[in-house]
Amino acid sequence: MLRHRLLLLGMKETDDFEKADFVLFNTCAIRENAENHLYGELGRVKGIALKKPDLFVAVCGCVMQEEKPVRYILDHFGFISLVFGTNNIDAFYDLLEESLKAKGLYVDVRSAPEAIVETEGDDTAGRQSRITAFVDIAYGCDKFCTYCIVPYTRGKERSRKKEDIVREVLMLKEKGYRQVTLLGQNVDSYGKDFGDNYAFADLLDAVAGTGIDRIRFTTPYPSDFNEKVFDVMAKHPNVMPSLHLPVQSGSDIVLKRMNRRYTRKQYLDIVHALRERLPDVYLTTDIIVGFPGETEEDFLDTLSLCEECRYDGAFTFIFSPRPGTPASRMKDDTPDEVKHERFERLKTLIDSLSEESAKKMVGTIQEVLFEDVSKRDTGMISGYDRHGKLVHVKGDLSLVGQTRKVRIVESHTYSLIGVIDD
Ligand code: 5AD
Ligand code: SF4
Repeated sequence: MLRHRLLLLGMKETDDFEKADFVLFNTCAIRENAENHLYGELGRVKGIALKKPDLFVAVCGCVMQEEKPVRYILDHFGFISLVFGTNNIDAFYDLLEESLKAKGLYVDVRSAPEAIVETEGDDTAGRQSRITAFVDIAYGCDKFCTYCIVPYTRGKERSRKKEDIVREVLMLKEKGYRQVTLLGQNVDSYGKDFGDNYAFADLLDAVAGTGIDRIRFTTPYPSDFNEKVFDVMAKHPNVMPSLHLPVQSGSDIVLKRMNRRYTRKQYLDIVHALRERLPDVYLTTDIIVGFPGETEEDFLDTLSLCEECRYDGAFTFIFSPRPGTPASRMKDDTPDEVKHERFERLKTLIDSLSEESAKKMVGTIQEVLFEDVSKRDTGMISGYDRHGKLVHVKGDLSLVGQTRKVRIVESHTYSLIGVIDD
């Protein structure tokens, strides 16, 4: 959205800091290394700002919703012109104007509003791709997992109105978009704030009814997950057969300390129900290793859960203490080397599960929606199959935006190679 608004002002994009007159940093607070990366990048820009006094530098996003980093930035990077958070991006032009008037630094960070501000008009031009788009369905999170900064930076859970979401999807479809991904911190608590019985399964059904080619959604929360969603997935061929269901840990003790509201058994029950009901679904997850107090036994529980779930892929993280969260104050006596060693063991298992899952695809025909030229090889075009698996084929740009049948001929851990077969 902000990118589009800058382009509307007549700006042109460059990846080169040295050439830029205007630099905007969007920040992520979820783990410490993302925050450190921001400080590193600001350090780089500092050198340029010294030579270019008119350089306009703005910083926005989740990190700016926290008090300490904002103070740190104000103390260390005096060349910044504008700081704003996640709750007033709809007023971006006003913020720019105010900061230009202010001449020095202009800061406007506010907490989450009670009501959702819908952006007026057509923002499709601002999206990165003309093929796939993200559609927000809810903002914020009320779960307060003890390691997570999101409830503090994103505020209370607020659902967008069903009519606004369906209207946006219809507009995207009319513009030629082929896929939408419905986004929320907990998509399956969608609608809880409305006080009626309208739930995520109903919304998914309504979005599927628009007839857009492909629908994905992320992220469901295991204990809110309602098996009615399985029925909707089974009913509509345009709801893609993939589910990202973060587990975080396979140990009940750790899950409890994380304030995750399910047990290992409850999680496994959902996975078994899923495998029975929708055997073709690709299942992925998020896992944190090295949570404060995690023992070798807890970690082995995580490994055995992964084996039992037979994940098709997973994002794995080492616990990163986020200031202000309860977990950052918990006693943590596991040495860093042990955490890294566990991380590597988990990664080896996940990679072998992903490889196994990818290998099964060799020889099958998959429907692939092509999105872009391959990042690695410009002679290849890349897209995703229905499960969300990355597929590369030899071809040219005319494939982009098309859905084609592809015979898979080779598998790698994170991608497949295929040939067009229609
Ligand atoms: N440390 C490590 N990983 C984290 N995540 C969220 N907060 C932290 C943290 N403090 C991971 C969780 C979540 C994913 C988006 O990021 O696994 O599901
Ligand atoms: Fe963070 Fe997700 Fe937990 Fe919410 S449910 S607190 S976003 S990890």
